Amino acid sequence: MVSVSILQTQKLHKHFNGVNAVDHLSLRIEKGKVTGIVGPNGSGKTTLVNLLTGMVPSDSGAVLVSEMKLSRIRPYDVRTYGMTRTFQQVRLFQQMSVLDNVLVVLTERGVFLSLFEYHTNFHLRQAKVVLEQVGLWDKRNENAENLSYGQRKLLEIARALAMGSDTMLLDEPFAGLFPSMKKTVAGIVQKLRSEGKTVVLIEHDMEIIKHLSDHLIVLDAGKLLAEGKSHEVLSRKEVIEAYLGE
Ligand SMILES: Nc1ncnc2c1ncn2[C@@H]1O[C@H](COP(=O)(O)OP(=O)(O)O)[C@@H](O)[C@H]1O
Ligand SMILES: [Mg+2]
Repeated sequence: MVSVSILQTQKLHKHFNGVNAVDHLSLRIEKGKVTGIVGPNGSGKTTLVNLLTGMVPSDSGAVLVSEMKLSRIRPYDVRTYGMTRTFQQVRLFQQMSVLDNVLVVLTERGVFLSLFEYHTNFHLRQAKVVLEQVGLWDKRNENAENLSYGQRKLLEIARALAMGSDTMLLDEPFAGLFPSMKKTVAGIVQKLRSEGKTVVLIEHDMEIIKHLSDHLIVLDAGKLLAEGKSHEVLSRKEVIEAYLGE
């Protein structure tokens, strides 16, 4: 089967105060695969996701979505390109209920209006599906601010699922989760893959990466250190020595 790049960067570059966060980086994300991105703290993983989703503008280089070169990506256009991301630092509407946090995404209305407008049964059913997937349906009437850290991360994932995007960029979705929650998130990643969706998974835990990702990208100081099939990359001596601390 011919591999198709759903996302691609060409010499993508971003510096902050003299630090090259992403350094002339060229890579491809294959459609329908789970691509893991690993690398030490500060190696540019989050910045890469920010660049791919227009959260920060690049200094130079290009991003291609489905082979289409984009001169500039704006955060509000990202959904049109079929992409959704989650944040390393969770972003929710703290004063709203768990259910409303999902309904806002489903109905695409502003926060204020969606509090007062009638939601159709259709939207409620969709919200139920994603909240059950992350195990938060029973918590639907709680305010987001009353959830535990792990539950808030799961709610953010539920919101991302509600978008129904073809490509999901998950920035450390497992970090700080209890084992049972990790299992839930792993199941979600596998389900997305089985539905033919593309997942970009930033993760530190190599067992999780080995278990879930087809393809692996290793970053170091904003540059590509290694890439290829996960099991193959993880067995390379320089990767083991430099990044896995083994
Ligand atoms: N908004 C920002 N302002 C200044 N420096 C930043 C900003 N975002 C990231 N950086 C810097 O860019 C480098 C890469 O950071 P980041 O992309 O967060 O790495 P990672 O996600 O791999 O830990 C780090 O040196 C970090 O301090
Ligand atoms: Mg990060």
